[in-house]
Amino acid sequence: MSERTFNVGLLGHGTVGAAFVELLRDRADQVAAVTGLRPELSGVLTRSRGDFDEILEASDLIVEVIGGVEPARDYVLRAMQAGKHVVTANKLLLSQHGEELWAAAREHDVQLRYEAAVAGVVPVIRVLNESLGAAHVDRIHGIVNGTTNFILSEMARTGAAYEDALADAQQLGYAESDPSDDVSGRDAAAKMAILARLAFNTPVHLDDVRYEGIEHLTPEDMEYAHELGLGLKLIGTAERVDGGISVRVHPAFLYGGHPLASVDGPFNAVTIESPAITEVTLSGPGAGGPQTASAVLGDVVSAMIPPASTPPTIDDLPIVTDVESAFYLYLEVADRPGVLAQVAELLGMQGASIKSVVQKGLGDNARLVMVVHPLLESRFFAAVELIGRLDFVRAKPRAIRVIEEQFS
Ligand SMILES: NC(=O)c1ccc[n+]([C@@H]2O[C@H](COP(=O)([O-])OP(=O)(O)OC[C@H]3O[C@@H](n4cnc5c(N)ncnc54)[C@H](OP(=O)(O)O)[C@@H]3O)[C@@H](O)[C@H]2O)c1
Repeated sequence: MSERTFNVGLLGHGTVGAAFVELLRDRADQVAAVTGLRPELSGVLTRSRGDFDEILEASDLIVEVIGGVEPARDYVLRAMQAGKHVVTANKLLLSQHGEELWAAAREHDVQLRYEAAVAGVVPVIRVLNESLGAAHVDRIHGIVNGTTNFILSEMARTGAAYEDALADAQQLGYAESDPSDDVSGRDAAAKMAILARLAFNTPVHLDDVRYEGIEHLTPEDMEYAHELGLGLKLIGTAERVDGGISVRVHPAFLYGGHPLASVDGPFNAVTIESPAITEVTLSGPGAGGPQTASAVLGDVVSAMIPPASTPPTIDDLPIVTDVESAFYLYLEVADRPGVLAQVAELLGMQGASIKSVVQKGLGDNARLVMVVHPLLESRFFAAVELIGRLDFVRAKPRAIRVIEEQFS
């Protein structure tokens, strides 16, 4: 087979960019054997090196691994306007400007690929776009942030406090020195916005995603959860609800039989549910230079072969903000007769019933920990507000959602 050159311009030479350069060098022969085209680097842009226009001119495809919104958005748009394919790992950009960018890709008949933007090397974008392209997806649950999954796994494994587990994660390179986007849930929210857009064919912006982080979780939550048969994860959910969709990220307890319950450490996993297939779970390393570069190179290879594009949205589904959930409720109470009965009554007035309960301690140090059957979140929080005002409640009640489904 005669071999032509396929020129790849690289924007960004940090963790992912540098790993991509190395991988491209190692795998060029293999890519040439598969595609008949030999990929070659046509230029590298950083803040101190390279010229965008020259790189663009010399490239068939642009890889964007700068991160952030600007100037990444401007470069990606200009590349597509010039008729070049683009591969990006940039979830923040796609979750805020995805529709504009996908429309530009369609208009200029180029490919915009972004497998590395969600769950690192786990091929969830490809599966949603291609393998399940015709499936009616009802729900996606995902562990899409490796930093928080590592921290929660460490807290569960060692009983460490959140701050200590975060320090360990930073030392081992699983968390950045400024971990705020990860631990606040914002990074996961951006990824869930992208997955929801693809799964439901409706516009979803990062601002549509409610998110909550893991900073407030304590070793006690882990301990009690363990007794109740639960494990704690930061879960992203995108689901159809009442003719609309809900996309959210929050810590959630899972029973041991859930496919995501055993995903530990810096790994990511995504469960896709659809009536025709029950559920499919994909898991693997969610971040890291070489891993992310591998997803980027996979997209480059795909772009070298057949055309593909993200189609326009076909629905405009409303975003639903009040959804049903089961809850874990942690109360510090004075140990007096009738405490559980009063809590149960306030919950009952909002239609909540208790599924299981653990009671520990004596005197003013008693703990009442329970799992409540699913109900609308607004009703549950209304009950918790009233419970927090009872005179025997010693500290602000803590509530964490519980995902009840188990698959076998
Ligand atoms: N790291 C991961 O594990 C991972 C995983 C999945 C997705 N991603 C995504 O991949 C992207 C890159 O992440 P990263 O960790 O590789 O970032 P990084 O290590 O911070 O590298 C960023 C690179 O972009 C360059 N850059 C920044 N601003 C620029 C500008 N205005 N003009 C030109 N170049 C600029 C930097 O140049 P200088 O060298 O001059 O500073 C640096 O080379 C992000 O979108 C991130 O969300 C990363």
